Amino acid sequence: IPVERIRNFSIIAHVDHGKSTLADRLLEFTGAVKKGSGKNQILDKLQVERERGITVKAQSVSLLYKCKDEMYLLNLIDTPGHVDFSNEVSRSLSACQGVILLVDANDGVQAQTVANFYLAFEKDLVIIPVLNKIDLKNANPQRVCNQLKNLFDIDQEEVLKISAKIGLGVDNVLQAIINKIPAPNVNRNSTFRALLYDSWFDQYRGALALVYVASGYIEVGNKITLFHSKNVYDVKSLSILRPEEYSVSRLAAGQVGVIGCNMRSSKEAVIGDTIHKLGENIEPLEGFQATRPMVFAGVYPIDQSQQQNLRTAIEKLALNDSAVTVSNDFSPALGQGWRLGFLGLLHLEVFTQRLEQEYGADSIITAPSVPYKILLKSTKQTLKSGRELYITNPIHFPEPFEVEEYYEPMVIGTIITPDEYLGPIMSLCIEKRGIQKSATNIDNNRLILQYDLPLSEIVMDFHDILKTITSGYATFDYEDNGYCKSNLVKLNILLNGKEVEELCNIVHVTKASTIGKKMCSRLKEIIPRQLIQINIQAIVNGKVVGRETLKAFRKDVTAKLYGGDVTRRMKLLAQQAEGKRKMKMVANISLPRDTFIEVLKKQ
Ligand code: GTP
Repeated sequence: IPVERIRNFSIIAHVDHGKSTLADRLLEFTGAVKKGSGKNQILDKLQVERERGITVKAQSVSLLYKCKDEMYLLNLIDTPGHVDFSNEVSRSLSACQGVILLVDANDGVQAQTVANFYLAFEKDLVIIPVLNKIDLKNANPQRVCNQLKNLFDIDQEEVLKISAKIGLGVDNVLQAIINKIPAPNVNRNSTFRALLYDSWFDQYRGALALVYVASGYIEVGNKITLFHSKNVYDVKSLSILRPEEYSVSRLAAGQVGVIGCNMRSSKEAVIGDTIHKLGENIEPLEGFQATRPMVFAGVYPIDQSQQQNLRTAIEKLALNDSAVTVSNDFSPALGQGWRLGFLGLLHLEVFTQRLEQEYGADSIITAPSVPYKILLKSTKQTLKSGRELYITNPIHFPEPFEVEEYYEPMVIGTIITPDEYLGPIMSLCIEKRGIQKSATNIDNNRLILQYDLPLSEIVMDFHDILKTITSGYATFDYEDNGYCKSNLVKLNILLNGKEVEELCNIVHVTKASTIGKKMCSRLKEIIPRQLIQINIQAIVNGKVVGRETLKAFRKDVTAKLYGGDVTRRMKLLAQQAEGKRKMKMVANISLPRDTFIEVLKKQ
């Protein structure tokens, strides 16, 4: 198919606005799958998709569509909906010339609609605005059109109205794709360059690379190399996804397709790298940006005998997801485990959910933390080893006298909400050390708010609280905004004067005392009373910021029984002894492993 009849596009939408449903309909309308085949959400449920670790990762499908007697090749390039993956969204969009901006006609514009719109807008892509779910009784297309006008200056006449569910208006979407989105502006006769924008692992063929060919063409048998990694491969197979893999002998500029070349793991298929032919000098394509994990969490087996199983599960999942980083970690209380780095909260959730669901790995996941940056004072030693330090584990926090400056990662948060919730949202953001950048009406009773927020404050429970205080009506999204100077301290927890390493925490100085007090009272609740009194203290820079006392007490497990049954009494006492063995001794206090799990795990 000639370049003039290729269209490369993406559907961008807020979660649940109907992206997968529209993709299904496009597949049906173009005959890629049979109508009413009952296979809903085909893109999400493809075999390859299931094998690849993360459903939210980009996936493409090539559609053939006849319009006015001409055959067109429409490449639908899927993007992850959440801005956690904004790098990936942005990279997928590099392969597109246009997007469908899909908005729920009932919900209206939401936080991820805005974030995604700007990613597409910055790339100068043609934007086709589409309202979905107009079949709904409560749909209010007029209101949503006004929002699009106010926010993005989109004229009402441009907006298509459809119901992806019942298939209404889908043909207009196909027409708009052909008429409004330009063909890729590429040269098939120049040197071959392709952007590697996704990959997944195939048991038999190694990591497969999903690419957008930006210039020239490639054929089976060619020798190729990656611009950044420099590894060399033979092209074993080329295919396009329709949606099943369909072999082709050549991939030419403007197309998207899959290259199989026996890459051993996804780590070799570095996303964003440029593939070219061996021996040809090329300028790399834009898109290479090492993904940097922003949210870290420890993962430990519930039972140390599960160690090997959990290791295998983590390795398998990581094989498919080059964005996750894995390193070994050891906690005196929880044993041998791993510290995993993620792009954001959603990424963490998807990964850990998969770990549980697909591999049945029973694990403890610690509360997420963020990487702090520390500039050390210049000394002889720091001259040699460098003054900048990234800390992801509080145990490695340097002493205050060694530190010149602290920095913490920041985000720009976007909140869209009905205006009656403005008050509580402002209080929440202030409590989370947010600074309001703007508050603008998008229609009569809806606001868009922008805040500068520290990432550490939103990784814990920001989203959940926001949902609670707005009865679920506010939506939130965030993007990375670099590092900002901050005032950080290490919060230590002491039990009878002894520091408990695994409970220490890095916190903002203004939060130290609140968090310290909270941790003390929480520990008082969950540490079982013991034969000796326990003093619980929270300490910052040698100062006590919180304290609780747990009175001595003999836990009499038989108290509930009315004397009588001796064997039962013996059994219970034996159980108590068993329980004690699982404890860890800290300053002569035995702490059950559950206590650590309770305090450390993600809520
Ligand atoms: P994520 O995969 O979570 O990003 O969601 P999505 O944007 O892909 O949305 P999806 O297609 O899964 O649709 C979300 C829900 O909206 C589903 O329950 C669909 O059945 C429903 N839905 C999609 N389109 C329509 C429509 O046109 N009308 C109605 N009434 N419901 C729809």
